[in-house]
Amino acid sequence: MNIFKFENDEDFVQTGANLVASLLQSNPKAVLGLATGSTPIGVYERLVQMYRKGLVSFAKASSYNLDEYVGLSADHPKSYRSFMNKHLFDHIDIDLSRTHVPDGNAKDLTAECLAYDQRLENEGPVDLQILGIGSNGHIGFNEPDASLTSGTHVVDLLPETREANARFFPSVTDVPMQAITMGVGSILKAQQILLLVRGAEKAEAIRKAVKGPITTQCPASLLQSHPNVMVLLDEGAGQWLK
Ligand code: PGA
Repeated sequence: MNIFKFENDEDFVQTGANLVASLLQSNPKAVLGLATGSTPIGVYERLVQMYRKGLVSFAKASSYNLDEYVGLSADHPKSYRSFMNKHLFDHIDIDLSRTHVPDGNAKDLTAECLAYDQRLENEGPVDLQILGIGSNGHIGFNEPDASLTSGTHVVDLLPETREANARFFPSVTDVPMQAITMGVGSILKAQQILLLVRGAEKAEAIRKAVKGPITTQCPASLLQSHPNVMVLLDEGAGQWLK
């Protein structure tokens, strides 16, 4: 893993955005793996700025998001589809029909998961997967467990994850109980992974992910088995790492 620690936010955000932009410059048809949550927002904002300056185009790119809440329709303000539209897609030249987010409101969730994997299989592999990490070591919504699922699947969210995400909802009881997530196997198929980590509350999780044993109890630790991972840390997240 290539680990970079940043003293200031500006460099953190610019480094992440540059990686995406340089991929699109060399391969305009790149398949991007995208993440939601607080951490990538700065990188998305910077990409929007770069797009407006003519430094990057998404016109031929496509994208696959990691996850979506079960039970929220795409147009629900708290859905991850709405998040992506609001923070990125509405402001760039990407063809919306080539942006993919699992349908958390699908009648048949199993069929939706299979169809998502099939689309990924046909269009993939993902060239660059952006990831965050949960305080419990989750990636996407792959929660710590005795075993992990490889492909896209429905997951019960752990109480700590619902608590952590309650800040986006009126209250914790409004956070959905389940989500659809790409599995760890699908995530590891990406050619390159960009893991973005901010905040002291993530310091222990990222230390375990990078230095600890590879274990399903810290799903992010499986990234140690991937040959091309770049980790960007702020000072808080990187306090246990050199
Ligand atoms: P965050 O979430 O970027 O909002 O901290 C990351 C995650 O829980 O995967």
